Amino acid sequence: MSEARVWPAEADLDLGWMKQRGEWGMKATPSKQGLTLADIQIGSYGDPVDRSDNQTGRPRGAAARPNSYRIGGYAVVNKSEIWLENASFLYEEALQRQWSSATDVPWHTIKPLRDDIEQAQCQLATFLTEVEFVAGDVPARWISNTTPDYFEPRQCLLAQVMDESRHMDVFRKRALANGGGLMLTSGGTAGVVGSIDLARDFTEMSSRLHISGEGAVLTIFRMGELMAYNDAEKAIYRLCAQDEARHVAFGVMHMRYMHETAPERHEEIQCYLDEAERQILAGSQNPAGNQTDASEALAILLGGGKDKYDDGLNKLLAIRKRQVQEYIKRVRSTGFGARFDNGRSQLTEMLNQAAA
Ligand SMILES: [Fe+2]
Ligand SMILES: [Fe+2]
Repeated sequence: MSEARVWPAEADLDLGWMKQRGEWGMKATPSKQGLTLADIQIGSYGDPVDRSDNQTGRPRGAAARPNSYRIGGYAVVNKSEIWLENASFLYEEALQRQWSSATDVPWHTIKPLRDDIEQAQCQLATFLTEVEFVAGDVPARWISNTTPDYFEPRQCLLAQVMDESRHMDVFRKRALANGGGLMLTSGGTAGVVGSIDLARDFTEMSSRLHISGEGAVLTIFRMGELMAYNDAEKAIYRLCAQDEARHVAFGVMHMRYMHETAPERHEEIQCYLDEAERQILAGSQNPAGNQTDASEALAILLGGGKDKYDDGLNKLLAIRKRQVQEYIKRVRSTGFGARFDNGRSQLTEMLNQAAA
């Protein structure tokens, strides 16, 4: 028989915590999409400070505890450094659109392919596995570096890391799903990792990762129908494109916020874009000259075989051009588009030459 529990007399309870709290009387109301992060941005809870001194991991809006350890060591403490207007929306969308690489891809539709096609597909899958590894690894470093006061962008980055984890595994699964396997590591991503990971500023990192790097990958995924040989590959590209579009949108909206709120940093950001464009130029000129393994594999898939390489290369050049056009459109929507009209960007010249 269990003994009856003895509660301490009320006089023995501290209950000091009952008086220590954030703003009280809050009642969030669910919207059409349910109770979203946007719905709980109410009262002082929805209003992050412009500069955060929160180094203790205190949830935004909670009462501070003076004897807390300074566990954070957060480097990102200025709102403009990481903020964007609708992070809450992007986060909710990420939650709603999670998919499973195990069950949402019709793997049974993959049938034996010609050797050169399977090899090209496996080479591309190897390359993309590397790319997705970087895309998860780099934002992950910034999450724990950001004050919890700016938790909405942090939540988006956490969701991105999950997305990239799935992208990494889905391309690995593709490489192993049809009698092929992983092929030659590109090593090419070492440069990308070096450049993105050297960033000591979030916006610098985001311009390289979200706007330029993932933007280019998004264009390729959107053209996935052209290089897919079965419904499984089509589904992979389509589902990955849906996720990438969110990651790119994060970068675009953050840069837009920066443009609107931090004019003192405009010139610095133009320099990040200069650098991104130098890399885009190098990449877009690549198909005409020195091939990377991934470009060759792409051209073989687009053309329909080694013997139709020239056809494939033409299609690849069209995709490269589209990557540049979409990049320009994105940068215009951040507010930094004057660079394409005042001669600062070399990309417009490249497009004009290509059109001539
Ligand atoms: Fe990805
Ligand atoms: Fe991504």
